[in-house]
Amino acid sequence: MPQQPAAASPPTVADSPRGRGWWQDAVIYQVYPRSFADADGDGMGDLAGIRGRLPYLRDLGVDAVWLSPFYSSPQADAGYDVSDYRVVDPMFGDLADAGALIDDAHALGLRVIVDLVPNHASDQHTWFRQALREGPGSPLRGRFHFRPGRGESGELPPNDWESIFGGPAWTRTANPDGAPGEWYLHLFAPQQPDFNWDSRAVADEFRSLLRFWLDLGVDGFRIDVAHGLVKAAGLPDIGVHDQIKLLGNAVLPFFDQDGVHEIYRDWRRILDEYGTDPATRRIAVAEAWTPSLDRTANYLRPDELHQAFNFQYLSTGWAAEPLRAVIGDTLDSMRPVGAPATWVLSNHDVVRHRTRFGGGSAEQDLRRARAATLLMLALPGSAYLYQGEELGLPEVLDLPDSVRQDPAFGRAQGTDSEGQEGMRDGCRVPLPWSGPAAPFGFSPVEGGPSWLPQPAEWAKLSVEAQTGDASSTLEFYRRALVTRREHPALGAGDAVEWLDAPQGVLAFRRAAAGSALVCTANTTTAR
Ligand code: GLC
Repeated sequence: MPQQPAAASPPTVADSPRGRGWWQDAVIYQVYPRSFADADGDGMGDLAGIRGRLPYLRDLGVDAVWLSPFYSSPQADAGYDVSDYRVVDPMFGDLADAGALIDDAHALGLRVIVDLVPNHASDQHTWFRQALREGPGSPLRGRFHFRPGRGESGELPPNDWESIFGGPAWTRTANPDGAPGEWYLHLFAPQQPDFNWDSRAVADEFRSLLRFWLDLGVDGFRIDVAHGLVKAAGLPDIGVHDQIKLLGNAVLPFFDQDGVHEIYRDWRRILDEYGTDPATRRIAVAEAWTPSLDRTANYLRPDELHQAFNFQYLSTGWAAEPLRAVIGDTLDSMRPVGAPATWVLSNHDVVRHRTRFGGGSAEQDLRRARAATLLMLALPGSAYLYQGEELGLPEVLDLPDSVRQDPAFGRAQGTDSEGQEGMRDGCRVPLPWSGPAAPFGFSPVEGGPSWLPQPAEWAKLSVEAQTGDASSTLEFYRRALVTRREHPALGAGDAVEWLDAPQGVLAFRRAAAGSALVCTANTTTAR
């Protein structure tokens, strides 16, 4: 086996420079628990698997880990349909495993961010089940959006909203006596009823949930669909529109309503109760798809959240001019609210950036993906990595339909006009850790199952195969993260100095503490 290179030692939780918040230049690694590491051999990743691989993340050189949901869930949307927010789903472990994972991470100097899903629950959540059982008029129905249908006998949905996964955003219920009854709103799958945030019980429950996980020691929350909680009064029709997209930025009566900010001011007060020392502060990052970066900045005002994903950046192609525009726009939008810019290229909802930016040949894909990563890590602020990008994993494009689990696949016939939306399983294939054959050390069982099949070629992309090989993507990421940590001009900041560059090339300079660094990225095919 190749020799493990000496690991750069990341700072411990207490080492953050005073006065500067740890999240302002943190590199945050997204773990998708289903697909990271499977300790019990059932083919599904779990918390014990993640715990066992924390040293790998420490050695990679990231500062924090964001875990996608591992709560009790029927898995209609891979855990983003939560039936009990205080319980770990048995397929992932239990609460003791979560506590041990957090403690181990802290001991290694890694912070832990968990996902919070406040826009919708699972239809198996006790509140929703009881609301259905009790029928129209039940006060529990007030915690969701139940409405009578339109049409003569209520046979039409209450309005024209569509689900992000395709089809109507409403499903009709049956009354306790079996007769057709009210409809309920679900912006996502029918198994994900939207909460009604005008309900006091909902707001109280989420305050209590924040405290529950903060008391267990988490360092922050990633807030799922943070822009969706408040719906326009009267739930007005939209009229003619294209299919609503998860990654869209249209102005809609259920996204980015001004009322959401009151909720985040309230949550900020709770986070601040847990301390305001910049080295140990608890933070929140918004998944907020908004029409513009200025609207995103509203979530980051000093009394609201700490970070938001930069989806405008993620949605920009590999081309110098649009990249320069979105980078400038990001820095200009974040400066007035004093929030760090964030940068992200891949996550569990989008095609992996190696494939997205790919020019066709595997070699060119990888060169571009690496260039994009270096550019991202050179920008001022905080960066998000998605598990497996450090291995240069491509999107798996040829999964058989029979193994796909993304609810969008079934609802929207798999593809949109670009042939990609609704195909989120391809970036969720379990990681290859070691060995010549699937499951490549993902599970401890040789030849054992994995919930999505891994391509045979991933043998050469495994952690084991890449470790110690200076030309590998993994060693490239390790070096990049060491450089980012050690170079005084990298990390936090709110500006770059653009340098003249030929068409298709991006060049900027950053300087701090007597050091300077120039980053140049060539987005053309010329070498
Ligand atoms: C977020 C998640 C996505 C999920 C959706 C509904 O966008 O990232 O995976 O399907 O919310 O919860």
